[in-house]
Amino acid sequence: MFPRNRPRRLRYNPIIRELAAETALSKNDLIYPIFVKEGRTEPIDSMPGQVRYGLDDLPRAAEEIVDAGIRSVLVFGVPSKCSHDAAGAYDRDGVVQQALRRIRDATDELLLITDVCLCQYIDNGHCGIVSKGRVDNDRSLPILSRVALSHVEAGADAVAPSDMMDGRVKLMRDALDGEGYEHIPIISYSAKYASAYYGPFRDACLSAPKEGDRKSYQMDYRNSNEAIKEVLSDIEEGADIVMVKPALCYMDIIRRVKDAVNVPVMAYNVSGEYAMIKMAAAQGCFNEREIVMETLMSMKRAGADMIATYFALDVAGELGG
Ligand code: PBG
Ligand code: ZN
Repeated sequence: MFPRNRPRRLRYNPIIRELAAETALSKNDLIYPIFVKEGRTEPIDSMPGQVRYGLDDLPRAAEEIVDAGIRSVLVFGVPSKCSHDAAGAYDRDGVVQQALRRIRDATDELLLITDVCLCQYIDNGHCGIVSKGRVDNDRSLPILSRVALSHVEAGADAVAPSDMMDGRVKLMRDALDGEGYEHIPIISYSAKYASAYYGPFRDACLSAPKEGDRKSYQMDYRNSNEAIKEVLSDIEEGADIVMVKPALCYMDIIRRVKDAVNVPVMAYNVSGEYAMIKMAAAQGCFNEREIVMETLMSMKRAGADMIATYFALDVAGELGG
């Protein structure tokens, strides 16, 4: 006879359900992305509940994050001005560098990861230097390394290059090692897709490209083999952790990457994914708490070892350490 009821026997009893659960989510899996700026803290309209933190409010914010049990942040700078050469990105007193020092003074319980890119700092709004209408990979690389180094000098514990230029991880690794920072990990945005889900982030950072789009350096969402190629070459260049971004439409990529590599995999639950849930929940479409849990847990199930998410503080209270 066909054993009809067998799977359900593991569902009736809540304790057995817990024993049998294949996936777990804890506060230690979460990274909280934060935006930092000079001047006052202000809300981000397209991301309800998120703010751009003014530097003076950072010590208090850092304490709140630690008190909630979240142990790491991913810092994005929103500078007050940009330039043709993105010099503000590696300025010793740039907004991120100042922010790192402020947070570090307030607590040493928070792992400080920085996003390394040029787009917020450069007047063309792209992730690299543009010459003759194209992003110039080779000219951008040394600047990105310099940005990473300046972050580490200001107190960053790990750097996350998000530009998608070829060869950046290798050059950054060499630059860090050359200055005695062999212990600083590189978390690479390896499989970063050209995605409309970044819309609210570009509003948050005021950093949309002035002309054109990012399709010449970010990935085509019709492809997945390419993600494996990017991830493997970043690991070869020295990436310690690889990232898949966005996450929600890219669960298959998370799984393929997880199966293909032997380094930890990070999923980035991006701004548009956050905004979608927040705004729909505010309209009463569904229960926010439940949908956030289902979403984050599914990213873990897909293979993410860790998740960068704007929901980190919202869910921390319900999770174990
Ligand atoms: C910029 C960068 C982006 C994000 C992280 N770093 C936007 C982009 O590439 O256009 C997106 C993060 C989010 O949407 O939450 N290099
Ligand atoms: Zn960028």
